Amino acid sequence: MSKRKPFIAGNWKMYKTCPEAVETAKKLVRILHGIDHVDVMIAPSFTALASVYEVIKDSSVMIGAQNLFWEKEGAYTGEISPGMIVSSGCRYVIIGHSERRQYFGETDLSVNKKIRAAIKNSLAPVFCIGETEKERDAEDTFNILDKQIKMGLEGFSPDDLQHMILAYEPVWAIGTGKTATSVQAQEVHRFLRNLIENLFGKRIAGSIRILYGGSVKPENIGELMSMPDIDGALVGGASLDAEKFAGIINFKI
Ligand code: PGA
Repeated sequence: MSKRKPFIAGNWKMYKTCPEAVETAKKLVRILHGIDHVDVMIAPSFTALASVYEVIKDSSVMIGAQNLFWEKEGAYTGEISPGMIVSSGCRYVIIGHSERRQYFGETDLSVNKKIRAAIKNSLAPVFCIGETEKERDAEDTFNILDKQIKMGLEGFSPDDLQHMILAYEPVWAIGTGKTATSVQAQEVHRFLRNLIENLFGKRIAGSIRILYGGSVKPENIGELMSMPDIDGALVGGASLDAEKFAGIINFKI
C-alpha cells in the first residue's frame, strides 16, 4: 500500500487576535509558496476565519474551524453552525479535541452528532481521539480508542468517511513537551487502521489519513513521518509561529 498524501494541520486553539492570525497566515502563505507535496490546513479561532480565508484563498493553504454545533440554526446563543463555518471558507472542522472533551463536556455522543453534521455540510471532520496518562498506565489505551471510534462513528457508512481525517492525540502528550515515540505512535496508528478496516472495509482503511498530535515539532516530525501508518500531524503550540510550522511541513524523513 503506498502511503497517502501527508496532511499537516495547525490548531491555533484560543491564540491570536484577528490581526495576529492574518499576519501569521500571510507569513505562512509566503513561506509555503510552491509547496504541494503536503496538504496544509490551519484552524484559527472562529472570529478570524473569514479574514484568514481572504489571505489563503489563492494559495494551497486551507482553513478549518476548531468546533461546530450540529443544528442548522436556531436559538443557541454562542454556538456556530456548519453553514456559518462553510461560509467562512472552511473545508475542515476539528471535532472531539481532548480539550473540548476535558473542559467543555464533549462526549462520544456529541462528537458523533458533530461528525454527522460536518459530513452533511461537506466539511471534512478531523476527528480527534486519544487516551489520558492514567488510561495508558492502566494499559487501557486500545479499549479507550476502540470505544471512541465505535461511538464516534456509529451509524456511518464507508462513503461517509471518504474525506474524514483521524487524529490520534495521546492526552498526556498535548502541550506537555512529551511526545509518544514514533514506535508507540505507529503501534496505535496500526491498531486504528485495522479497526477502521474491520468496521468500514479495506478501501477506507487504506485511504484514511491518520495524523499524530502531541508536542510535534520540527525536530521530531521526520521520525514520526517515517512510520508506515502515520500520515501527518495535528500541531498545536509549534503551529503558532509560521517559520516553525513551515519547518514541520518541510519535514525530511
Ligand atoms: P501541541 O497540541 O502540539 O501543543 O501538543 C496538539 C493539539 O492539541 O492538537
